[in-house]
Amino acid sequence: MPLYFNPLEAAAYRLSLVPPMFDYFGALGVHALIAAARLGLFEALRDGPLTGGELADARGLDPRATRVLLDSLAGLGYLRRRRGRYRLSRTSRRWLVTGSATSLLEGLAFWERTACVIWPETEKAIRDGTPPVPLYTRTEHDPELSRSFQAWTAALAGQQAPAAARAIPVPRHARRVLDVGGSHALYSLALLRRHPALRATVLDLPQALRSAAEHPRLTLLAGSFLDDDLGDGYDVVLLFNVIHGLDDTETAALLRRVAAALNPGGIVVIGDQFDDRLLPGRASLGLMRLLDLNYLVACGGRVRGFAQVAGLLREAGFRRPRHRRPWRSPVTQLALARTPR
Ligand SMILES: C[S@@+](CC[C@H](N)C(=O)[O-])C[C@H]1O[C@@H](n2cnc3c(N)ncnc32)[C@H](O)[C@@H]1O
Repeated sequence: MPLYFNPLEAAAYRLSLVPPMFDYFGALGVHALIAAARLGLFEALRDGPLTGGELADARGLDPRATRVLLDSLAGLGYLRRRRGRYRLSRTSRRWLVTGSATSLLEGLAFWERTACVIWPETEKAIRDGTPPVPLYTRTEHDPELSRSFQAWTAALAGQQAPAAARAIPVPRHARRVLDVGGSHALYSLALLRRHPALRATVLDLPQALRSAAEHPRLTLLAGSFLDDDLGDGYDVVLLFNVIHGLDDTETAALLRRVAAALNPGGIVVIGDQFDDRLLPGRASLGLMRLLDLNYLVACGGRVRGFAQVAGLLREAGFRRPRHRRPWRSPVTQLALARTPR
């Protein structure tokens, strides 16, 4: 929530004069946000400010209840209210309306499913050390979870893929890319657009390929990267947001198979969150720790540091792992390494 303490509030929280209400109210805030998105309130405010009554009329809603929701969104920083009219805050205009290149609107429902279906299992996951039902077993049987998950990952990838593609040193002779767990295919597409001689294959589970992008030089391959043959003769292998869903044994085994699938001098690109490369900031670190718990509860995975990833790459036979943080890819950083020539 785009909500910031003033100095008095900050002091009150720091001195523990008030209970830590942000967690409890944060859980409610996600539902207020998603209800507003589903009711089309952010879209309705795209072209200019409206009163609560005008918004309720436009969307066929109860006028008083609409005003209560609008005021709570204004309190959270998603809307601004002036003389009875509501308008989008900068945050909402950038992240919550369609047509913005940075829109996350389509994927928001994933966080509702995460909060309502996955996180209630946290206590059990901590007792057992594994998720009661792994995320990709859930997506196989829950089309809405699968659709919203794809929409969320596609929204992030749509923003970050061009910057990631610019940061990948594709050799001039390169012809073939394997995009492991590539789903919507947006990272592959960004590479294909920059390199006309490349062809890409996206390997993912069948439910993840349903809304994948199309391109004449793109092949979609339904299968499991844990069990199925990866093939060989690739020049570049992409692993974007894949290893954070795996434990160290699975990651090590996958990296060894990726090394065998690459030509000599081929490049592996891991795109992920690295918790040892954070800008200083307690909030960023706090969110990263919560993300680590999310990966544990959802799929038995984890956040790693670049140093750990580099160690796993070396053990799998890769040379000289390097870290890249593309400027326009704030969530996903890169680890790049090559097979020996
Ligand atoms: C977090 S998503 C990342 C998608 C995309 N690479 C990105 O960064 O936006 C992880 C992807 O891995 C896929 N995946 C998980 N387990 C898999 C498996 N055993 N075989 C193939 N794909 C798998 C999921 O279906 C999902 O599309």
